[in-house]
Amino acid sequence: MSLGNTSRGSFGSQLGVILASAGSAVGLGNIWRFPTEVGRGGGAAFILIYLCFIFLLAMPVMISEFIIGRSSRSNAIGAFQKLAPRKPWIVAGMMGVLGGFLVLSFYSVVAGWTLHYTVSSALGQLQGQGKGVDFGQAFNLFVSNPWQPIVYLAVFLLLTHLVVARGIQGGIERYSKLMMPMLLIIIVILVGFSLTMSGAADGVRFLLQPDLSEVTPEVVLGAMGQAFFSLSVGLGCLVTYSSYFSKETRLVKSAMNVCIIDTMVAVLSGFIIFPTVFSVGIAPDAGPGLVFITLPNVFLLTFSEMPIVGYIFALLFYVLLLLAALTSSISMHEICTAFISEHFSKSRRSSAVIVTIICLVLGSFCSLSFGPWKDVTVFGKGFFDLFDFTVTKFLMPLGGLLITLFVGWYLDRKLVEQQLTNDGSIPVRTMKPLLFLIRWVAPIGILVIFLNELFPIFM
Ligand code: PHE
Repeated sequence: MSLGNTSRGSFGSQLGVILASAGSAVGLGNIWRFPTEVGRGGGAAFILIYLCFIFLLAMPVMISEFIIGRSSRSNAIGAFQKLAPRKPWIVAGMMGVLGGFLVLSFYSVVAGWTLHYTVSSALGQLQGQGKGVDFGQAFNLFVSNPWQPIVYLAVFLLLTHLVVARGIQGGIERYSKLMMPMLLIIIVILVGFSLTMSGAADGVRFLLQPDLSEVTPEVVLGAMGQAFFSLSVGLGCLVTYSSYFSKETRLVKSAMNVCIIDTMVAVLSGFIIFPTVFSVGIAPDAGPGLVFITLPNVFLLTFSEMPIVGYIFALLFYVLLLLAALTSSISMHEICTAFISEHFSKSRRSSAVIVTIICLVLGSFCSLSFGPWKDVTVFGKGFFDLFDFTVTKFLMPLGGLLITLFVGWYLDRKLVEQQLTNDGSIPVRTMKPLLFLIRWVAPIGILVIFLNELFPIFM
């Protein structure tokens, strides 16, 4: 298989590969969605199940995406066209690009809220709010406003756009190398802050002591959805990124590193949020409002004696969330931009403009579904929920299933081994178990969980 095609961009270093891929993985999924799911799924028990899914189901999908991307050196759709010309496998790529548009649209809405909270905390407005209005009310008022969240959504999309338009090395790699270390430093500082709060031990216990009685089939499904979402697998996002990997990049090792970084960040976010929440005696299952309602409350009430500490804690937290969102949204944007640019032979810049405009329109629909369009529903769901559901419950698992079947059963075994061993130059001792995961465990696991979701037998 030709590895050439010099006109495409490529990552300049191994560190760039890891930080960009980890940047895609680490996002709102880790800091916003993970604690929410952990809170609902009973803490440590959820985390245990989640870890199994990460390493048994999601990582094999990630490695499969890497194999497809690097061997084809193409965007998510072009890759299947190249590796399986005129075969129906292309559907997997199409679902990925569609998923890229949908996920970027609803994700940017939450990222826009984050931007708003970052600005408010920087201006010290959160403090002001704490005195009069309650945070739940303020949050609902903001998200249901017809235009304010759309302005923030647009600014966030513009930031994403500016990075993607600059290309692989000058944009995605450069900014990932800048933002990821910042993000990791902020996390460590915040964990330190949070563990020193009085009563933090209850939160730590919640995260470390599994209570298996909380595990329901719904929790198991939630854990798989979360594992896929958190690792950005199933949509061809990593097919696209790995098409810019060099011949020397070690696919298995890179995937391991990304999984470890992503899991670490998710668990550390738990260590930021739960000790904080428990220290003021709030229930941990507050749902999606956790980081926008519960936390501002905690930041300001706990530190009412030392407002400056509350100010710094809040500001750092929202900057962290914003950085995480940005490194992920860049990768979603790239799925679509790479496809448009290669398929329609357009420049990267104009392709990026098209993607940004489409997502601004779709994202505005999602945003409006919290306010004036509350009652506009398709299949009983508002736009935000519809997009979220379509991507996380449908396109991602189905995409993951097709991707592992494609690599495990359709692709030439020699090509797969060549990719895993870099043409025989590095030994992969785990080759057999890895192929077993890709051929059997991942597809069967995904299928069972996916079917159960569509036709619930256990619930
Ligand atoms: N993994 C990202 C997160 O945790 C979300 C994402 C999904 C990114 C799909 C790219 C593609 O927030």
